[in-house]
Amino acid sequence: MNTVSQRVAAQYERHIYPPPLDDLSGKAARDKTERADPKYFSAHLWPEGPPRNNLRILSAGCGTSQAAHVAYNNPECSVTGIDLSEASLAHQKQLAERHGLKNLKLERRDIVEVGASSERYDLIICTGVLHHMERPDEGLRALASALSPRGAIYAMVYASAKRVGVYFLQDMFRRLGVAQDAGGIAFVRKVLQELPAHHYARWFLPGPGVQIEDAELVDIFLHVQDRAYSVQEALDLVSGAGLTFQGWNDNGLYTRDAHIDPASEMWPRLDGLNEQDEWSVVDDFTLHNMRHSFVARHPSDDPPWRISFDGTDWLRYRPVRHPSLTPLGGGKAQRGQFQFTLTPPEQILLQAADGQTSISAIAGKLSEPAAVSERRELARAFFRRMWRLGHLFYRTA
Ligand SMILES: C[S@@+](CC[C@H](N)C(=O)[O-])C[C@H]1O[C@@H](n2cnc3c(N)ncnc32)[C@H](O)[C@@H]1O
Repeated sequence: MNTVSQRVAAQYERHIYPPPLDDLSGKAARDKTERADPKYFSAHLWPEGPPRNNLRILSAGCGTSQAAHVAYNNPECSVTGIDLSEASLAHQKQLAERHGLKNLKLERRDIVEVGASSERYDLIICTGVLHHMERPDEGLRALASALSPRGAIYAMVYASAKRVGVYFLQDMFRRLGVAQDAGGIAFVRKVLQELPAHHYARWFLPGPGVQIEDAELVDIFLHVQDRAYSVQEALDLVSGAGLTFQGWNDNGLYTRDAHIDPASEMWPRLDGLNEQDEWSVVDDFTLHNMRHSFVARHPSDDPPWRISFDGTDWLRYRPVRHPSLTPLGGGKAQRGQFQFTLTPPEQILLQAADGQTSISAIAGKLSEPAAVSERRELARAFFRRMWRLGHLFYRTA
């Protein structure tokens, strides 16, 4: 284990984070559903269909609850959780015992060692971990080498846009010799109260009356090792590990559709960009993103998972609603921060998106416009927009 891993392990032994779940059947667990959980997000991970039913899953840097949570939700799958912190693994063991999880294996292991074993995984979940490694590129390469041919990696790394203020404070606390102990934590709390009104780290402060827990405070402001990524850096991290970038966890945060007024002079300029540059521009413009969550796959010349509304393949796609998409009535719907209004024909299209019915069959449910080609064009534009906003996924096969 390198020195950075030792220091990171020591931090998470002492300051256990994230706060552990104590009951995987409870509301807190349901509210904390992993975005990579195949029970809910299989179509997002594998638009062409999962490689098998009994998936082999690795939760790399599993923390206090992730591996047990995924094992509980997917009893037909085998789940391995690895982490540097015995204290975090101990929480996972308690969850395994409480829920009798026979499909969960837990090991104290560094991510860089994963490639050395002969085990291969269909899904590797690595959220909030790579950016705490001395060499995140090496970490992702190790994970890539343990991926089965049709496997998917779901990763989350910090995003630079919103975290910029945190790094000023981390630097400041380091220079001031602030330790990760009770005195240091009390000192940080005082300094946060004195932060200038314009300080970028204010984005990280909770609203009035809400207290950041000690372990979270350490995780944010006193971390021994962390870095953040721009959109381009995140994409380069993926390609540098020999993987192909499949897509964001939430397209809506990266496409211009919900963020830039079509009347803006930015719009025609964006028309001339490739999609990766559009993502960077939107991230630079909105400063929304605190983290980048994405799916990466083995490289392939003709990926069966590529979603495209050019050509005619999209007519066979079967739209799946995002689990958090909620109809509000009156033609309105909401998912997280995004609220939108649907025309009556669009309401019919969304209503019919059940994961089973093809877009071609769904378009057939419209009574107008009269011409089939016009109905299909309306459906194409709608389902393309829903894809760009992250409200729908698509099964391509
Ligand atoms: C912020 S927690 C995230 C936990 C979990 N992935 C989640 O999203 O809830 C980071 C975890 O990564 C672990 N970790 C950091 N570097 C690691 C490494 N090189 N190998 C294995 N685990 C690591 C830490 O011990 C800690 O438990």
